[in-house]
Amino acid sequence: MILITGASKGLGRYLFTHFKQDGLIVFGTFNSTTEGLDEDMSSYYKIDISDNKAVEEMITSIKDSLSQIVLLNCAGISYNSFAHKADIKQWDRVIDVNLKGTFNMIHQVLPLMRAQGYGRIINFSSVVTSLPTPGVSAYAASKAGLLGLTKSLAMENASKGITVNAINLGYVKIGMGVNDVPASYLERIKAQIPAGRFCEPEEVYNTVKYLIQTEYVNGTAIDINGALI
Ligand SMILES: NC(=O)c1ccc[n+]([C@@H]2O[C@H](COP(=O)([O-])OP(=O)(O)OC[C@H]3O[C@@H](n4cnc5c(N)ncnc54)[C@H](OP(=O)(O)O)[C@@H]3O)[C@@H](O)[C@H]2O)c1
Repeated sequence: MILITGASKGLGRYLFTHFKQDGLIVFGTFNSTTEGLDEDMSSYYKIDISDNKAVEEMITSIKDSLSQIVLLNCAGISYNSFAHKADIKQWDRVIDVNLKGTFNMIHQVLPLMRAQGYGRIINFSSVVTSLPTPGVSAYAASKAGLLGLTKSLAMENASKGITVNAINLGYVKIGMGVNDVPASYLERIKAQIPAGRFCEPEEVYNTVKYLIQTEYVNGTAIDINGALI
């Protein structure tokens, strides 16, 4: 089964609907967005992943229905500000959600995976870890942190049938990549992408399926960025 954080919109929602169409059991989480979830609401859990206690309670409440677990850590936020002007609370919040919140989920799910001898964890990172733009210090730091976390956890758990990988996304046609960028800036970004286009969500979905199927790919990050290197 597949457990997707941040499944209320953007890529997480896309992956939820497509894995469900594939006939898999899928659980999703939302934090504030419920629009468009109606038909799937019984498979959704409200959670702020930065709240460790709430994450523990949620996983405890569903753990008996979790097996062959694939955890897709899609939940994330961004905050745009030059560092010297940054609001420290908003800066911290990005780390709390993107890095610590992802760890909170993994921390609760790993014991189940280890006991079952199977698990797949995929952390959604970003091209900004290697190709930053001005104003993304919190986001880039949080996503770079995920890459270190990914490698460390892969080493700890590889002998238990568990893989931990990351996907470094460039600019995807849905979600924050394109929605949070002003239209005028979008054309400039597209011009810099050697592929000459933004990423189709299906290309992310295909990569997730590959990582689920391929146990020997472990502790690494796959770039999906149209050669934006
Ligand atoms: N789209 C891209 O081009 C792109 C590029 C690089 C990296 N990424 C990464 O890919 C992942 C998915 O991105 P996206 O574009 O789909 O983003 P999105 O459309 O903005 O969706 C973000 C999701 O994260 C959830 N979320 C936010 N804060 C949360 C919290 N405290 N606790 C639990 N859930 C929370 C949101 O839930 P609510 O709306 O319910 O609050 C939402 O479901 C993110 O990690 C993002 O950093 C995306």
